Amino acid sequence: MHVHLRQDDMLRNVTPFTARQFVGAVCMPNTLPPVDSVERYDRYCAEIRAAAEPYAFEPYVPLFFHEGLTREVLAPARERLFGVKLYPAGVTTNSEAGVSELAKIEPVLDVMQDLDLPLLVHGETNGYSHDREREFVGVYDHIAKTFPKLRITMEHISTVEAAAFLDRHENVFATVTLHHLLYTMDDLLGGMWNPFMFCKPIIKSPKDRAALRDLVLSGHPKVMFGSDSAPHTEVAKRTEGAAGCFTAPVLLPCLAQFFEEHDALDRLQAFVSDHAQRIYRVTPPKREVLLEEATWTVPPRYGSIVPVNAGQVLRWRVAG
Ligand code: DOR
Ligand code: ZN
Repeated sequence: MHVHLRQDDMLRNVTPFTARQFVGAVCMPNTLPPVDSVERYDRYCAEIRAAAEPYAFEPYVPLFFHEGLTREVLAPARERLFGVKLYPAGVTTNSEAGVSELAKIEPVLDVMQDLDLPLLVHGETNGYSHDREREFVGVYDHIAKTFPKLRITMEHISTVEAAAFLDRHENVFATVTLHHLLYTMDDLLGGMWNPFMFCKPIIKSPKDRAALRDLVLSGHPKVMFGSDSAPHTEVAKRTEGAAGCFTAPVLLPCLAQFFEEHDALDRLQAFVSDHAQRIYRVTPPKREVLLEEATWTVPPRYGSIVPVNAGQVLRWRVAG
């Protein structure tokens, strides 16, 4: 329920990894330019569907939040829209066109609440890296209180504080990524700097990871899997410091291994699929994906992109 598929060649190269394992996904709008109008939305959905062929794949693309998303823009397209994604300006990749004054977002939120359009949020401030998400919890609290009927997704939560906040409001939900579930900051910089583990929000402490694991393994009904798989070329990762972990090729195998190790395989299906369908009220076509216990080695790179877990042996794979 959270993936970056990009544009053009990158879109065509990475989409099959997601479409092979998932029948639909929330595909993020931080393209260049962003998917910020109904026209661009229609075009991007069509491009994703074409890139996913031969898989039937349902793209759920939230519009990139801006103050111009008025009732006149949103209401006529409501039936085919999925939601709106809010990026504070400058907090992550391609977020320069995001929101710089949070005080000004309320008229759009009011319309969204009225139209029952979910709000998806990259919840970080511009503060000290490690504290950005914790500092943003107050913003979530304000929005959830002011718009009690607006469904709000805290994307890729990474902290004890966000995990604890989840149950404070009925209208607040969360996604958790594979990398925040499996790793800590030591995997990024505890040894040699590993650029392929660098992402926003930054992967945090063992304590934060434990809170996420508890939430996910408990089968919490407000928690959905959102990979935040975010491809960048190896060159961009190594030389420009691009933020984003490319996890798409390894998602279900790694999740199966994680849930199995915690004796919770029976909760995997709900985490990757059922909860999101209920929360977002979407009904993608049904597809069964078979996971089998069989070892394989993650390739060192897919074209110009280095995946997370490159070179590692995994114990599960997607059959067929
Ligand atoms: O690490 C990230 N990469 N976090 C985001 O929020 C965006 C993403 C990207 O688009 O590369
Ligand atoms: Zn993302």
